[in-house]
Amino acid sequence: MFAVYAESFSPDDPLSGLAVGERPDPEAPDDWVTVQVKAASLNHHDLWSLRGVGLREDSLPMILGCDAAGLDENGDEVVVHAVISDPAWSGDETLDPRRSLLSEKHQGTFADQVVVPRRNVVAKPASLSFEEAACLPTAWLTAYRMLFTRGGLKPGDSVLVQGAGGGVATALIALGRAGGLRVFATSRDDAKRKRALELGAHEVVESGERLPQKVDAVMETVGRATWSHSIRSLRPGGTIVTSGATSGPKLDDAELTRIFFLQLSVVGSTMGTRDELASLVELLDVSGVRPVIDQVLPMEQARDGFAAMAGGDVFGKIVFTR
Ligand SMILES: NC(=O)c1ccc[n+]([C@@H]2O[C@H](COP(=O)([O-])OP(=O)(O)OC[C@H]3O[C@@H](n4cnc5c(N)ncnc54)[C@H](OP(=O)(O)O)[C@@H]3O)[C@@H](O)[C@H]2O)c1
Repeated sequence: MFAVYAESFSPDDPLSGLAVGERPDPEAPDDWVTVQVKAASLNHHDLWSLRGVGLREDSLPMILGCDAAGLDENGDEVVVHAVISDPAWSGDETLDPRRSLLSEKHQGTFADQVVVPRRNVVAKPASLSFEEAACLPTAWLTAYRMLFTRGGLKPGDSVLVQGAGGGVATALIALGRAGGLRVFATSRDDAKRKRALELGAHEVVESGERLPQKVDAVMETVGRATWSHSIRSLRPGGTIVTSGATSGPKLDDAELTRIFFLQLSVVGSTMGTRDELASLVELLDVSGVRPVIDQVLPMEQARDGFAAMAGGDVFGKIVFTR
């Protein structure tokens, strides 16, 4: 079958290990389903994989991609949940120490077909296109859990979203607005700040600029470049929810003094459960909120999408179609 896969790693030149071509058809073990992929979306995770983060050398070649929407064996329209937990695990899949994301241990979604455990598919409502549905399993699910589960935010609360243009960040802004939050966002880029306002942010500022008020929570996916500003933007007792470190995980200053003196909470968040994915799908179905899509490309042109993400000039999600 056709597939987009990693054949080697390079920390400095991730696209050098990207291959587009043929891979063997997958075989579904008992209780797994084969999904015919109609659309898949790109995540920063796929670039990390090509840099050799989270993927072992002996797993190569590995088909990339965590997210997909497509057709199951009955022809039903489904969204794929990317968190594969151990068959013996029950409860919150993201807490299973043996969990993996599609494309880490099991072949990913940038292909004609992907196989996943039967419980890893969620029905796709007709109101969502395959392209829109393919944006949900990683970036949008991560945003949903950050805001409403790990962040515990309620209508009327205030939130800062760092790095407005990212896949997770655009989801945080749109979902935060839909959830009745007062949404602030930062971006280094003026055009992205304008788009963040159109997307639902109440106010935007340049990265690092002081906010007009302190916020209840900050959603962090940027890491080193924005950490201090995030901590300094919180009200006493506020919460920083971190799920990524695009600019690097090593902090110049962890701001420990502020964290204990202002009694701040630092909360980690990763992906989301199957039930949270089902709730997110429902939220989009009833609210009309839709993922922001930067560009849709045929999967054969995946390299262009990877290059755009590596260059950082993206607002929202990059989607590949079959
Ligand atoms: N833990 C999880 O489950 C999980 C799930 C999904 C994603 N993640 C992680 O979350 C991060 C974001 O993922 P994504 O797919 O949304 O990536 P993305 O689309 O590539 O996000 C890039 C955004 O990060 C901001 N950024 C990058 N470098 C920056 C810098 N030096 N200073 C300030 N802002 C910077 C940019 O914002 P502006 O250009 O607007 O300033 C950019 O729009 C990644 O590190 C990813 O691995 C984790």
